[in-house]
Amino acid sequence: MSGSERPIAFFDLKSQAARIRADVEARLKAVLDHGAYINGPEIAELEDALLRRSGAREVVAVSSGTDALVIALMAKGVGPGDAVFVPAFTYNATANAVLLTGATPVFVDIEAGSFDMCPDDLKRRIAALRAGRPDLRPRAIMPVDLYGLPADYPAIERIARAQGLVVIADAAQSFGGAVDDTQVGALASLTGTSFFPTKTLGGYGDGGAIFSTEPGLGEVLRSIRWHGTDEARRESIRVGMNGRLDSFQAAVLLAKLAIFSQEHARRVALAARYDANLSNSVELPARPAGRTSGWGLYTIEVENRDGVRARLSEAGVPTSVYYSQILPEMRAFRAYAGDGDFPAARHASARVLSLPFHPYLEDGEVDRVCEALRAAL
Ligand SMILES: Cc1ncc(COP(=O)(O)O)c(C=O)c1O
Repeated sequence: MSGSERPIAFFDLKSQAARIRADVEARLKAVLDHGAYINGPEIAELEDALLRRSGAREVVAVSSGTDALVIALMAKGVGPGDAVFVPAFTYNATANAVLLTGATPVFVDIEAGSFDMCPDDLKRRIAALRAGRPDLRPRAIMPVDLYGLPADYPAIERIARAQGLVVIADAAQSFGGAVDDTQVGALASLTGTSFFPTKTLGGYGDGGAIFSTEPGLGEVLRSIRWHGTDEARRESIRVGMNGRLDSFQAAVLLAKLAIFSQEHARRVALAARYDANLSNSVELPARPAGRTSGWGLYTIEVENRDGVRARLSEAGVPTSVYYSQILPEMRAFRAYAGDGDFPAARHASARVLSLPFHPYLEDGEVDRVCEALRAAL
């Protein structure tokens, strides 16, 4: 079907599956043949491929993006009594990961426009915590690369160094992004990403990876991933968990990684097409100097979002909202809302709208979405 006939998909995993089907089947068959369903050779192969691509020092494949963050926090010894600074506007997994370690999330407002953690507000929140919460020790900063755009790591790293904090990046949405020439995975001491099927690099199930730029952490991360065991995997020498990725998922991810650069280039081209089409109509995704998005989602800001969405839906254009509620307002996290003053996060949560976006979208489909959007505003 041509771009003008087929229904527009918000994500399209089927077109990608058709493209890589032969490679995926061959790789899955190889796993069936060798039978090492856990820790088969695909795991090391995937970790090596991710290492080469990212420029990190160590890569450890794990069971999900959430587990990547939990294990990264555990590897740095973050736990009860520690404060971890997280953005107020992100997926719930960011705060859950912190709470699962026993540490306390401290919410930080976002930068207007980029939707990522605001370095100035971070500084204020660290100072306020040191002055007013002697029961909590500032330990870590967990920026999130929302919609694929890397956070302002140079500014956040400067603050972290001055304050003696570690940066653990939540890059669940941004694999493929970069700051200048440094890829996501090498932008922080530790980075967690997700291989949830709709992520920029997604498997056919759950998965994730931890990237480390610190020497010596790989062994600790691998130990925690396997119940905290020693190298012989017998005695537990620290607290750990089952955080393993399985061989089938690694096989799928290797097939996806083979086309990742092409897909990323297509995402970049589609984002540019959306930008050019919509520049006079809506607020476009920010493009801060030096920060290249992984383009997980294409997200604009509109007034009267519900009405716009309803009209787009009638015109056959699916949309999504990530996220309509800020974390400090969610019942699970209200106890950590602090002063509740997150104006930029609140503003974004009322206005963000994600448009259909995936590497198999056709130019004509982008044009149709934009036409429908202009009519719906
Ligand atoms: C910002 C963010 N953090 C963490 C996660 C958790 O990843 P996973 O679903 O693989 O556990 C996700 C993805 O869903 C996410 O979008």
